[in-house]
Amino acid sequence: GAPQLAYRQGRLHLEETSLHALAQEHGTPLFVYSKAAMLAALAAYQQGFAGRDAQICYAMKANSSLGVLQVFAQAGCGFDIVSGGELERVLAVGGDVRKVIFSGVGKTRAEMQLALSAGIGCFNVESEAELDVLSEVAVAMGQVAPVSIRVNPNVDPKTHPYISTGLKGNKFGVAHEDALRIYQYAASLPGLKVAGIDCHIGSQITETTPYLDAMDRVLDLVAAIEAAGIAIDHIDFGGGLGINYNQDTPPAADALWQLLLAKLDARGYGSKKLMIEPGRSLIGNAGVCLTEVLYLKPGEQKNFCIIDAAMNDLPRPAMYQAFHAIVPVVPASDRPETTYDVVGPVCESGDWIGRDRALAVQAGDCLAVLSAGAYCMSMASNYNTRGRAAELLVDGTRVHVIRRRETAADQMRQEQQVSA
Ligand code: LLP
Repeated sequence: GAPQLAYRQGRLHLEETSLHALAQEHGTPLFVYSKAAMLAALAAYQQGFAGRDAQICYAMKANSSLGVLQVFAQAGCGFDIVSGGELERVLAVGGDVRKVIFSGVGKTRAEMQLALSAGIGCFNVESEAELDVLSEVAVAMGQVAPVSIRVNPNVDPKTHPYISTGLKGNKFGVAHEDALRIYQYAASLPGLKVAGIDCHIGSQITETTPYLDAMDRVLDLVAAIEAAGIAIDHIDFGGGLGINYNQDTPPAADALWQLLLAKLDARGYGSKKLMIEPGRSLIGNAGVCLTEVLYLKPGEQKNFCIIDAAMNDLPRPAMYQAFHAIVPVVPASDRPETTYDVVGPVCESGDWIGRDRALAVQAGDCLAVLSAGAYCMSMASNYNTRGRAAELLVDGTRVHVIRRRETAADQMRQEQQVSA
């Protein structure tokens, strides 16, 4: 968790606010984010880039709630988007569209048109076929689309295979050995203007070496592309920096960038404009999910602690066997601990939130699932017709509701019964 998360007078607080009081007032499951923690995470990057020409584009897929986007927009961030819907969210919060970059392997023509008319900063293109379509769409609109090509540096980020993206054999980016030829092709197309180069090697990366290796590989390409007469104005180094979920020790953003900038300087690229696309590292540890213990169910092999949050709210354990710390909001020192599997109400064996956790709990207790700011609400679903949770943003002693709890009526609103 973030330093903004601490026990005071026997109760867990986020900034100045008691989480127990919030759970009582707003109900559970409930996501609560700390604005100070978000800004502190951002400040680590800003410090790392002090004195440089750098643009931080928050990868909003990590958490695209409007109240969260507002904080980053007001702090001067751009946004890394992956759909037209995400662009609509940037526009809704008044974000600077010139600081928007559009990633993703499957942009539709409609999404390209929307992004071109909004005037986004750059398209991160992931295939030759996409170059053709983007050029065609731009020409038809009388525009020139700024592009960078996502190159695959083929380094192993040493993270979960589902969130590793920079290796050969996954769907993202173009192969390192094809990159120069594809840049020459892009430069020849009438609707495109080469602006930069980009890479993204994976997510929840906790080691420095894959980043340094990727930077070397990307700079080799910059040299080759510029030698071929194509200017590369910016280097977009993607996102992926990990957070501490469970004794993870990722480098601090500023320490990592000190090393990367030293490499850029040493190779003579220190004055190039830099862009990055961090998601998890800006929001992951700024949020918690509060949940109530519904039932304790002792079993022959396992004891279950059944909570009111489930895989539809917190999908990461089911999808990636991910670990989230689970702690009591009001610790009880007088009760003995028992080992539980912490599970939700959804009708799937995969609906677990934590395994083999020692907890001193009883029904009615409130628990906090930590590191729940990133890839939780943004991946939440309505499975089992469960309404998505409410979300709060705390800012010192102030508490803002940024999403009300979803009702069954909300869920049925777009549906229609077959008429007779
Ligand atoms: N840029 C691109 C092109 C990306 O695909 C991603 C994440 C990011 C930036 C931001 O990466 P971050 O800084 O957040 O690591 N749902 C998974 C993570 C999927 C990441 C997808 N791409 C999880 O819950 O672990």
